[in-house]
Amino acid sequence: MYVCICHAITEEKLKEAMKDTSTVNSRDVLKRLGVGESCGICLIEAINRIETMTHSNETVFSAQINSSTVSK
Ligand code: FES
Repeated sequence: MYVCICHAITEEKLKEAMKDTSTVNSRDVLKRLGVGESCGICLIEAINRIETMTHSNETVFSAQINSSTVSK
């Protein structure tokens, strides 16, 4: 699914960009991909998707830590 039509950025491209360790934060990801730099209509949705991805990763990571702590 496209997040930014103007720059042909899909949700998958966003996910890949978030995995890139050279990217510091969500603002850097959006800037590097050019998301929101044309019409700008995608920007809020793109930020929401990145926040959702970030929080779901934190949840998984937290669950892994908690399960490893409990099993010891
Ligand atoms: S849809 Fe992203 S800048 Fe236009």
